[in-house]
Amino acid sequence: MTHHKLNIGVLISGGGSNLQALIDASEHSDFPAKITCVISNKDGVYGLTRADLACIPHAVVPHKGLNREEFEQQIHQLLCQHKVDLVCLAGFMRILSADFIAKWEGKILNIHPALLPKFGGEGMYGHHVHEAVITAKESESGASVHIVTAGCDEGPVILQKSVPVEPDDTPDTLAARVLDIEHEIYPLAVKEFARRLTSL
Ligand code: GAR
Repeated sequence: MTHHKLNIGVLISGGGSNLQALIDASEHSDFPAKITCVISNKDGVYGLTRADLACIPHAVVPHKGLNREEFEQQIHQLLCQHKVDLVCLAGFMRILSADFIAKWEGKILNIHPALLPKFGGEGMYGHHVHEAVITAKESESGASVHIVTAGCDEGPVILQKSVPVEPDDTPDTLAARVLDIEHEIYPLAVKEFARRLTSL
């Protein structure tokens, strides 16, 4: 049976290496989704160049100068305009309001650079996560893809994979090891999300 591909909207704030992993995956004909728009809250980030190179429509919605409602309304409108079925947060560094999440209930995925429920929540993003993991002397870390709910980083995990924390790790070396597996699991989590939808 053939199914219509899911339209993905990717929200970014930076380099977009996870966006790239999704772009690369979506070039395979058996991948169940295609990216129809990329939205960044920051101008000039490399993730926008990646979207451009892949000929994916992209836009900047700056969080500065807009209140939260206006900011989210603009994002919502763009996602609707591009007929998005699934929103993928890929290094998107703004916390979305409960109102926005309710509009997209069960349809937003996030990738987090730790083994949730550990090392999640407000303030736990980017290098802060890896610093906390090293300070806590954890022997392993990893990455998690989860469904976004109103509680920050608290939604059900779809997929996670661990990596060892080495004794001489710095936040940077650990971040690089985790990032490699982020690229591996984000496309797999999208596949799993699509599989669950079609088996409903
Ligand atoms: C990734 O490590 C992602 O997990 C993290 O930001 C990085 C973005 O990299 N996200 C968070 O910390 C969200 N809480 P990228 O722009 O190269 O995909």
